[in-house]
Amino acid sequence: MTHDPRPTTYRIAWLPGDGIGREVTEPALGVLDAVAEAHGFFLDVEEHAVGGCAIDATGTPLPDSTREACLAADAVFMGAVGGPAWDDQPPETRPERGLLDLRRALGTFANLRPVAVPETLAEASPLRREIVAGTDLLIVRELTGGIYFGEPRGTVQEAGETVAFNTMRYTDAEIERIARVGFDWARRRGRRITSVDKANVLDVSRRWRALVSEIGAVDYPDVHLDHLYVDNAAMQLVRNPCGFDVVLTSNLFGDILSDLAATLPGSLGLLPSASLGGRVGLFEPVHGSAPDLAGQGVANPLAAILSGAMLFDALDRPEAAAAIRTGVTGALDAGYRTADLAAHAQTAVSTEAMARCVAQYALRAPSRASLVVE
Ligand code: IPM
Ligand code: MN
Repeated sequence: MTHDPRPTTYRIAWLPGDGIGREVTEPALGVLDAVAEAHGFFLDVEEHAVGGCAIDATGTPLPDSTREACLAADAVFMGAVGGPAWDDQPPETRPERGLLDLRRALGTFANLRPVAVPETLAEASPLRREIVAGTDLLIVRELTGGIYFGEPRGTVQEAGETVAFNTMRYTDAEIERIARVGFDWARRRGRRITSVDKANVLDVSRRWRALVSEIGAVDYPDVHLDHLYVDNAAMQLVRNPCGFDVVLTSNLFGDILSDLAATLPGSLGLLPSASLGGRVGLFEPVHGSAPDLAGQGVANPLAAILSGAMLFDALDRPEAAAAIRTGVTGALDAGYRTADLAAHAQTAVSTEAMARCVAQYALRAPSRASLVVE
């Protein structure tokens, strides 16, 4: 038997955040723990505050202690931030600011948002089954630049009028590094990539398009590249989602398109994400804090659980990641649904019950890797 050089314990900074954040990440961590143990490693989980609850406790959405703990961890596992209680806060002390600052602090410029519509869920989609069934795409969203962070920005008085503005800007280096992430993923998948911009209007998009084309031609001639304007991309995503493989785009366009793509499988509650590029990755569901659902124990934990699978992949634990995905597929195939996905005839199960069910299927069906005789 050869020695496995991978660590046996990983430090996880757990940031439940606001609203349903805790309700979905806590049972998800239960699944992660169980799967880790079954694969011979452990999670050392430490909780830290971010977002609205951090504002209430410390006056700031990203306390220094949280930032430092995240930077020192092996991975960050987050819930969601925000809620009506903090909607009137000034921009620097809004819950969202905490998340944006964390992404910058970790240097996670590449946000991966996979969207798949399994056969069993095609009925839950607001679109017709024959359109969505088989969708399997990956949104690669630039996460630490663009109009989210561009300077100058602000609100000023000009000729007796209030003027508010932001700046959409990208350096060549920022475009190049996210483009390479997109192309590399396309190589691992179907070798097709669609770069989404607004090059018919925006200078920043014209530069984006030119550079992506050049990188594609020089270094990825084996990957098929095409370009879409963002308005057209939105339309194509609902008209023919199966036509996409990797979607490469900027921060703001990626934010909008990923919520749109989330409607394909019928619920935002299914979409996981990984934010990579620095030493420490950040793993969080695409959905928000859903204040209207919070506290009821009915939210869908699958996005959080699947974010955990992406976390295991990033920690070089692909066999544990595969087991989690097997667990999710098993639970869905067996007919278990949370309220967001339950059709009329189906009884909805609670957040906790769904997570327990995933754990059972994850542990019952050992992944291929763990069957290998050592
Ligand atoms: C997301 C969210 C965030 C974003 C918010 C909460 C700052 O909508 O991760 O998609 O806009 O990036
Ligand atoms: Mn968003």
